[in-house]
Amino acid sequence: MDISRGLHRITPGDKLRLRMKAYHIAVVGATGAVGQELLRVLERRNFPVASLRPISSERSAGKLLRFRDESVSVQQLNEHSFEKIDVAFFSAGGEISRKYVPIACQADAIVIDNSSAFRMDAHVPLVIPEINVEDVRRHRGLIANPNCTTAITLMALFPLHRAFGVRRIFAASYQAVSGSGARAIDELTQQTQRWAEDQQRCSRRSVGDATNGKQSSPNYASHSEAATVYPHSIAFNVLPHVDSFLETGYTKEEMKMQNEARKIMHLPQFRASVTCVRVPVYRAHSIAVSAEFEGPVSLERAREVLAKAPGLELVDEPQNNRYPMPLNVTGKDNCQVGRVRLDCAFENGLSFWVSGDQLLKGAALNAVQIAELL
Ligand code: A2P
Repeated sequence: MDISRGLHRITPGDKLRLRMKAYHIAVVGATGAVGQELLRVLERRNFPVASLRPISSERSAGKLLRFRDESVSVQQLNEHSFEKIDVAFFSAGGEISRKYVPIACQADAIVIDNSSAFRMDAHVPLVIPEINVEDVRRHRGLIANPNCTTAITLMALFPLHRAFGVRRIFAASYQAVSGSGARAIDELTQQTQRWAEDQQRCSRRSVGDATNGKQSSPNYASHSEAATVYPHSIAFNVLPHVDSFLETGYTKEEMKMQNEARKIMHLPQFRASVTCVRVPVYRAHSIAVSAEFEGPVSLERAREVLAKAPGLELVDEPQNNRYPMPLNVTGKDNCQVGRVRLDCAFENGLSFWVSGDQLLKGAALNAVQIAELL
């Protein structure tokens, strides 16, 4: 067949249709907090989906999920789940990824993995499109999505790094429960409801006690006995404990900031000392960061680069009580940065506060952005 003659006849409309090829998509962990968000992002961004295969464990198999006004049945994960799939999103935890990502790659699907299983492997690009888009090119069928706290921090840190050259950071995170999955969201709700019921019971009792001349104080003690996802009550509490502890005293989550940031920013000397904290917020993580730079910094220039950075909004009017907050970034694609100030302890330092929806920029949105690049 004479291909060149055929090509001459391609009209602009044909070209558009060719470019808009649609893809067969699998979502492993489709019933989970990130998986559900992934389906919404694919739909909202009009990702060209030819077919969707939502995948879960045996527990949710057969369940119906809505996608583009259609009901799609959830399938149980197995060795054949990736046949005829172009792109597979994984969001069912490291163990599942370790076992099934190689199977998906073997079936010629391109995998975008949200777990930490392969993030630090040298041949696996770890990508935030606003930062290291060029790394996607060297993928060999697998691209890793960064840790959510790292991704949100870097959305603000990287533009400052480009302006001033970052050396190290000290940071504390305020992480929402949805980062631990759907069960953690339920746990916060149940503990809060129980707490409210106890308070009501207590106040009814104290009215009775007052008439008897007795004192009755509310019970502020935790409901740790009702905690299953976390080791303590998360309602009305903060837990300086995200992920498991290492021998150094840091947690795995805390070290992801240093290790993943080095890889994403191509900055092997970068250092990060982080305390990760779980807070009773349903959705959106925040991070307080103090960063030290190679040379002198200027507040004006810092604000300028942050205001122009893609995927980021500068919300910094503390005198009007305007600063980033989890409730304000929930459901939003953009992260927000504020409280930008010269650091009073570092010679060349800036402190700032960044918030972002960790189910979006920290997971589903970033994953779909990567798929769009492909
Ligand atoms: P399932 O609904 O069957 O439990 P979250 O992070 O919100 O807890 O969600 C975890 C996701 O990973 C869910 O979709 C869950 O499915 C899925 N998942 C958990 N274990 C497995 C497994 N062994 N095989 C496949 N999917 C799993």
